[in-house]
Amino acid sequence: MNPEPLAAPVVTAPDGPRLSRLVQGYWRMDAWDRGVDEHLAFLQAHVDLGITTVDHADLYGDYGNEERFGRVLARAPGLRERLQIVSKCGIQLPSETAPGRRVKHYDATARHITASVEHSLRKLGTDHLDLLLLHRPDPLMDAGETAAALVALRQAGKLRHVGVSNFTPAQFELLQSRLPFALATNQLEIGPLATGPLFDGALDQVQRLGIRPMAWSVLGGGRLFDASNTRGKRVRTALENVGERLGGWSADQVAFAWVLRLPSAPLPILGTGNIARVRAAVAAVNLPLDRESWFEILEAARGEPVP
Ligand SMILES: NC(=O)c1ccc[n+]([C@@H]2O[C@H](COP(=O)([O-])OP(=O)(O)OC[C@H]3O[C@@H](n4cnc5c(N)ncnc54)[C@H](OP(=O)(O)O)[C@@H]3O)[C@@H](O)[C@H]2O)c1
Repeated sequence: MNPEPLAAPVVTAPDGPRLSRLVQGYWRMDAWDRGVDEHLAFLQAHVDLGITTVDHADLYGDYGNEERFGRVLARAPGLRERLQIVSKCGIQLPSETAPGRRVKHYDATARHITASVEHSLRKLGTDHLDLLLLHRPDPLMDAGETAAALVALRQAGKLRHVGVSNFTPAQFELLQSRLPFALATNQLEIGPLATGPLFDGALDQVQRLGIRPMAWSVLGGGRLFDASNTRGKRVRTALENVGERLGGWSADQVAFAWVLRLPSAPLPILGTGNIARVRAAVAAVNLPLDRESWFEILEAARGEPVP
């Protein structure tokens, strides 16, 4: 299958970054078990398909994936300018790389955000992030302090844009109220196995603000394909039935189309390291999912019809 490459990147928010319609996630990069040349071939292949935005976080791969990715970029001078690099900070994991840290926690202090961004830039071998996200809402966040750190990093040219991830609408509004620029996105878990943001106000908020959310784990982190997962199996069957009826699309393609069909126009983040599956997702951008088929999948996700 050789789909048409994606059209040009899209603006995610008023004055926001231009990101590709699909984003390649690098959370699982360390598990792909590849050398630098193979990583580079994968990166070049998805960039050629129009997936120019890559999603990272400081902690991915036990704080190692940004450095892995930096080694790949160093092998291909010129590629950096074609990419939009997204990274995140704010989760502190106990790790061998952080001796003495006992408890997994969140940290939205100015000190941590600044140190984490500088660390990410060094590891990635770049002088700026196109988009920084606060990875999780920190209940101890002092919004004024957090905002001041983000403003300073942006003024220093280290960040082009700022957004959040996994924020409720109220948390989003609190941080936004302290910032002189608009938050660029809210990266949320959205998919047939994760329908929360459709009903808790998060997608209504971004639609109102004209912001495109980013969607993580659209395939439930692979749970859709786990035969021992009862709900996953039920939803996969619905996806397969719809795909067959619409002309032979696979379950993963229908899942991406289901998210793309949302009026807030989310940017799905792919988690696969398999280029054939990336191509399938690119083709799914043109999958015409009708309203009743969309609700058929929601019904399978809920286990009952909508009220
Ligand atoms: N902001 C946050 O809090 C947050 C949280 C989690 C993730 N993320 C971001 O979102 C990205 C995507 O998340 P995700 O990796 O969980 O995405 P996902 O697409 O839901 O899951 C990817 C997993 O599913 C497997 N898979 C994909 N297609 C398959 C198929 N047809 N059959 C069987 N297995 C299949 C992949 O294996 P193969 O590689 O073998 O295809 C991979 O292990 C991450 O890389 C990260 O950048 C953000």
